[in-house]
Amino acid sequence: MKKRFLYTSVAITAIALLSSNDSFAQKKTKPVIKRNSIEQRVDSILNLMTLEEKVGQMNQYNGFWEVTGPVPKDGQAAKKYEHLKKGWVGSMLNVVGVKDVKALQKIAVEETRLGIPLIFGYDVIHGYQTISPVPLAEAASWDLEAIKKSAAIAAEEAAAVGLNWTFAPMVDISRDARWGRVMEGAGEDPFLGSKIGVARIQGFQGTDLTDHKTILACAKHFAGYGFAESGRDYNTVDVGLSTLHNVILPPFKAATKAGVRTFMNSFNELDGIPATGNKYLQRDILKGEWKFNGFMVSDWGSMGEMIAHGYAKDIKHAAELAANAGSDMDMESSGYVEHLVALVKEGKVKLEVVDDAARRILRTKFELGLFDDPYKYCDEKREKTTVGSKAMHEGVLDMAKKSIVLLKNQNDLLPLKKSGQKIAVIGALANDKSSPLGGWRGVSKDGTAVSVLEGLQKYKGNQITYEKGADVYTGTPVFGLEIKINTTDKSGFDKAVEAAKKADVVIMVLGEVGFQSGEGRSRAKIDLPGVQQELLEAVYKANPNIVLVLNNGRPLAITWADENIPAILEAWQLGTESGNAIAQVLYGDYNPSGKLPMTFPRSVGQVPIYYNQKTTGRPGPGGESVFWSHFTDEKNTPLYPFGYGLSYSKFEYSNLKMSASSFSGNGKITVSVNVKNTSKVDGKEVVQMYIKDEIGSITRPVKELKGFEMVSLKANETKTVSFTIDSKLIEFYTANSKWEAEAGDFKVFIGGSSDATLEGKFEYKN
Ligand code: NOJ
Repeated sequence: MKKRFLYTSVAITAIALLSSNDSFAQKKTKPVIKRNSIEQRVDSILNLMTLEEKVGQMNQYNGFWEVTGPVPKDGQAAKKYEHLKKGWVGSMLNVVGVKDVKALQKIAVEETRLGIPLIFGYDVIHGYQTISPVPLAEAASWDLEAIKKSAAIAAEEAAAVGLNWTFAPMVDISRDARWGRVMEGAGEDPFLGSKIGVARIQGFQGTDLTDHKTILACAKHFAGYGFAESGRDYNTVDVGLSTLHNVILPPFKAATKAGVRTFMNSFNELDGIPATGNKYLQRDILKGEWKFNGFMVSDWGSMGEMIAHGYAKDIKHAAELAANAGSDMDMESSGYVEHLVALVKEGKVKLEVVDDAARRILRTKFELGLFDDPYKYCDEKREKTTVGSKAMHEGVLDMAKKSIVLLKNQNDLLPLKKSGQKIAVIGALANDKSSPLGGWRGVSKDGTAVSVLEGLQKYKGNQITYEKGADVYTGTPVFGLEIKINTTDKSGFDKAVEAAKKADVVIMVLGEVGFQSGEGRSRAKIDLPGVQQELLEAVYKANPNIVLVLNNGRPLAITWADENIPAILEAWQLGTESGNAIAQVLYGDYNPSGKLPMTFPRSVGQVPIYYNQKTTGRPGPGGESVFWSHFTDEKNTPLYPFGYGLSYSKFEYSNLKMSASSFSGNGKITVSVNVKNTSKVDGKEVVQMYIKDEIGSITRPVKELKGFEMVSLKANETKTVSFTIDSKLIEFYTANSKWEAEAGDFKVFIGGSSDATLEGKFEYKN
């Protein structure tokens, strides 16, 4: 009883001390975090903490028991519950809903000695319940404002259910369509990827972290996770320093600059060192060079996985390696909570390492304002009015339309006529209300997306018939289980063919089911799965007037379709409002403006394929010779290049002008171009600028995206678009192992894709 009283009074003193003089007390008028006062308060609480409590902050548990049920009495759950009550847990993940979050927060605040609140993390990757397009699709919009807004909507919905931390954005550069997680990132390009990563961070975190609508963002996976050999998830990564610094790290660096508050390391090893135990990445680069002062969470169990990597001999050794390398919080390995105190006492991990990690975690808790109001994300009324609200649906619909990419539109088959047409809609995905939710679909329920069929049926002027043709998969694709793709059942082909014969236009919705991409969903084949290609060809024979709508989470090799099908729309997995967005684009109520954030290969043998490749010593074409860098059975060129996408408008580029032929030092130069909408339809175009550095101290890519701007052009309108080039823009990680601009000759290309041919040149003198 006496002990209990003592603890309570310590906690009250601590909280009083931490809340006094508080900049968050006047949240509304003071959006800027008062760094000094936070640091002082972090120090004061650290002074009160035992080593066990500090280590406790570094421990994150997955939701381990039904919070509303009885408290766990035995086994792992009971142990974790004891840890929670002792203040040995700093954060929890996968606990959602105000009721549960509040109950757990109450234990942390009222039952632990110091009453330090928990932070609650969840994978809000593209929405919590109201689902926006998968991130790769959003990236295809190249619309930074829209992406920021989409993240802000997701943050608001998540924050309304008690969450204050999302494990997003994933800023891994991905060049390999076999890798299932390409759906979760912004594609292949470091420049675009950096801009999009920053937009997402700004959306999630807003300008004021104490606002109850904003949450902590997390730049992941640090680093190199997207470069898994053969695209097989979790596989070995072995890249050189140039690729690491010039391609993989830029989005992470941009995230740090944008003020992202947390990072997550990754499952992969990088050049022999698992990322979780990688000191070079976490201490030297992130916390050293980039001065990141938020905290690093491990990926799920990645500390323990260092044993399987053959890097740590047991979990205690793994904890030692991870702590010393700069991994601040342990997600679900229990390595820190079980062994870190002993490791400090044995002198294997310095106390300063623990202090530093605890300080980083406490800092973010102060920044969120949790010490002033640990229940600020726990408002039942707000939860009810926010989750699934009209504003959420409008927001994800807007993002969905902007994410669609028109890949082909022969003879202006699209947009569809609004009346007098017989339309046959074919393909299981057309009537699928779950697949559009994609992977990482938060708490959204199966069957809650608007299907393409439903979207089309809202337009009443045409006569629509539907035939499935063939299932993509058999059974229910339950999260975590293998998806059984239908490779045999063609019993629905005949009906589909009959429907096509009677139709003026056929809309075929083909692609991947929702969980066919995402974590652990690598594919060795990236064509249309199952019997869909055969279905497409059978229907084509009956009626070639086909619009192919693709639903997929990764680039697909659809070469036959490109050669034969007149219109192709890349509609990814667009989330809750998918069908409405697709129908509006098909009918021309929305003019598509998306551009591919990832190269589409002709065949899987070409991957990894990306536009900013190196020339090699034998670029070809090789004429009669075979001794040049090529395939003997496939072209080198992609099916659709990075940055490519059509519109119902037509754009013409002309008159590329450089403001000068050279610049030096801190000077700059301007390149401009005229873009004309030569069509009768108003539209938007993403104007892209690429630069080629002719000679470098390390070899340079054939071109690199260095600027883009979305312009709206009325029918027949012309606008001049200009880009500024300065030394910062042409810097790269050179043979001197630092970022610098090298003097020399450069080419500039401007156009509507990475195939841009309008060309200029300049010289940089330093
Ligand atoms: C593993 C994934 O790699 C990571 O991205 C995710 O945030 C965690 N699991 C938590 O769910």
